[in-house]
Amino acid sequence: MSLPKIDPTTTRSWSDLSRHFESIKDEKMQDWFRNDPGRAERMSVNWKEFYLDYSKNRITDETVDLLIKLAEEVGLKTAINAQFSGEIINETEQRAVLHTALRDFNSIKPEVAASLEKIRSFANRLESGEWKGATGKPITDVVNIGIGGSDLGPDMVCEALRYYRNHLNVHFISNVDGDHVMESLKGLDRETTLFIIVSKTFTTQETLTNAHTVRRWFLEACEEQDVASHFVAVSTNLEAVSSFGIASENIFPMWDWVGGRFSLWSAVGLSVACAVGYDNFESLLKGAHGMDKHFQHTPFSENIPVLLALLSVWYNNFFESESECIVPYSQYLNKLVAYLQQGIMESNGKSTDRNGNRIDYQTGTIVWGSTGTNAQHAFFQLIHQGTKLIPVDFICFSESLYGKTDHQNKLLANCFAQTEALLQGTYGSEAENSFKIFDGNKPTNTILIERLTPKSLGSLIAMYEHKLFVQGIVWNIFSYDQWGVELGKKLAKNTLGAIEAGNPASASNSSTRSLLNKTL
Ligand code: F6P
Repeated sequence: MSLPKIDPTTTRSWSDLSRHFESIKDEKMQDWFRNDPGRAERMSVNWKEFYLDYSKNRITDETVDLLIKLAEEVGLKTAINAQFSGEIINETEQRAVLHTALRDFNSIKPEVAASLEKIRSFANRLESGEWKGATGKPITDVVNIGIGGSDLGPDMVCEALRYYRNHLNVHFISNVDGDHVMESLKGLDRETTLFIIVSKTFTTQETLTNAHTVRRWFLEACEEQDVASHFVAVSTNLEAVSSFGIASENIFPMWDWVGGRFSLWSAVGLSVACAVGYDNFESLLKGAHGMDKHFQHTPFSENIPVLLALLSVWYNNFFESESECIVPYSQYLNKLVAYLQQGIMESNGKSTDRNGNRIDYQTGTIVWGSTGTNAQHAFFQLIHQGTKLIPVDFICFSESLYGKTDHQNKLLANCFAQTEALLQGTYGSEAENSFKIFDGNKPTNTILIERLTPKSLGSLIAMYEHKLFVQGIVWNIFSYDQWGVELGKKLAKNTLGAIEAGNPASASNSSTRSLLNKTL
């Protein structure tokens, strides 16, 4: 069974949605709310510790029905089943897509169970001090060396779960920028630092360059035989890892059926398990699994990722919104947007459909944002009064972790007030002058979660993973490959050749030649 390959614009529901759009595009949510007291309750979903309020969207009940019909017509149910049953749905790379299997404790794959056991044992030994550095001292600092999916997920989760962290300090080296590497090494003690080199392919230029630089830095004061106590690796490419000099018992495997940007649930999350302890890491996985089950088994009309995806399609393809914004009202989630940018934009930035044809409709959304309330004092002006329609996801938690009531009240008040201001604007009241007019009618989703825990964070991340998958299915694209990043990698190699040879003339483009002439 492969994925359905239906051009969404040829479906009956797409034509119906186009007609429906024309009839409601100028209507005001403010009026809908005034005339329909049951709207908020009807357009919301309660699921475990999650509450999604999607009532503040430019939609009517008919819009939701038509969007769900669209999902049915493009074969979403078949696609979900194909993914979860391990079909080769990443056709262009001939791979299954089974990051969900990494968190399915009910029917766990033997290799996943073995990997989790290895993660558990390693994280416990590090945390308890049983794992010693070469000179017999316990480890105090863990440094993750990786980029893209081998960096963003673990970094984001370690930050998000700061409250649950143990005494181990975690650091992330990602950029091939040598200044970043040297700044990261500053203050680290070789005797008590452990490096985790994370690269699915173990061929990524940035990660290998950084790993070699760090290894040389380590060997400035340590011996070759000390490497075993200070370097471990996570990869599918066992051969390349062992030729780097890492002993086989220090290699944590991963598999080609786990895409890089969906890999934090595998041993790529080793730094997370070290930082918050294995039990919390397992809770993160279980939270994600809960969302997997919700996504797999809930009717589309109550299915959080499906509803979010369809709303996004509505704005992207009918309102022609250029981007969407994500604003978590929790400073712990300050790296969430950067993480989601890779997940969403690397997955759905495609212009060839699943039949291999060029696409003539909009696909991948541009995703951006940052934490509230900070964002209110930065870019919210443009969302309120600018000329662009930007749907926003507001994410917030009912309870704070330290119980600072005064702060929590203000945080939540701001979050809810912003969604209301975006909805209502100055509509129905006299604005003092034209500069103070707010049109309102700006769409938002509010995702209210009881508390930030490893479990709820796992569910939240999985929610966005499934959302982007649904969007890809509707747009008839392959969400799980990323050919677009390959050309840049190839050209970087050619350009590096020109730089190393001190030969700008060998660059193939005149602009590059001029730039090289300025720098060489
Ligand atoms: O940028 C492309 C990419 O392949 C990402 O998809 C991936 O997460 C990243 O590079 C890192 O790859 P690797 O883990 O193989 O080093």
